[in-house]
Amino acid sequence: MPLFQRTQQTITVTVLAGTFLYAAIRYNIIKGVAWEHFPLFISNKAIALASVAFIALSYMLGPLARFWPQTMVPLLPARKFFGLLGFGLGAVHGLMSLLLFTPANYPKFFLADGTLNVTGELSMVFGIFSLLIFTAVALTSLPSIAASLKVDQWQFVQRLGYAGLTLVLLHVITMGLEGWLKPATWPGRLLPISLVAAIIIAAALLLRIIVLISPGTYGSQKNK
Ligand code: HEM
Repeated sequence: MPLFQRTQQTITVTVLAGTFLYAAIRYNIIKGVAWEHFPLFISNKAIALASVAFIALSYMLGPLARFWPQTMVPLLPARKFFGLLGFGLGAVHGLMSLLLFTPANYPKFFLADGTLNVTGELSMVFGIFSLLIFTAVALTSLPSIAASLKVDQWQFVQRLGYAGLTLVLLHVITMGLEGWLKPATWPGRLLPISLVAAIIIAAALLLRIIVLISPGTYGSQKNK
């Protein structure tokens, strides 16, 4: 098996194991959420974080390859896999969230009359539009669609993913900011998952900004 495929598998298993473990430790073990809520409610948090991690990673590999070409260039073909995996998990997270979407599960999104408050309205609209953007990006990775696009058109749609990541950042800021500012309430002093996601997205956006300031060649190749 080629080295990049083995690395791709290792990263995938590590991220998935890490996010599920983190969610179980933070919520089930330390906070005391009943294990019967693990399959959907807690897994949804892990899946959301894994989605962010994989999408961010797929956007970080190009910029990283500029700084560590020997290590990172062989991994560039994995961008498509991580991007599509992250998109798939984001879609699953959206679906799971809709099933769970009740005031009893998410009191912070609802008013007393059962309608959404401004936090719920804003964070959900950001989440839904981010998914729309990632759908467009994923579609352009289909060989038939990619072949019909000029390189600059394909690149434009791929780079829309940064707008998608920015929307996910807004999705988690609107729902999480209040909690982020109260570290004394964090179970086991472990960072909220929304904050971990925000840090990962901020890192991906920062890397992109660094690349924009010092343009180069890696990371802009069409990788259908
Ligand atoms: C239809 C689109 C979406 C809907 C309806 C939605 C809904 C939700 C809901 C209800 C939560 C709160 C979960 C909780 O606190 O347990 C949440 C959190 C989150 N969402 Fe989304 N989301 C959508 C899209 C996305 C996408 C595409 C991503 C990632 C690429 C994403 C990443 C996250 C993250 C990281 C959290 C924080 C989880 C936590 O704090 O435990 N969401 N979303």
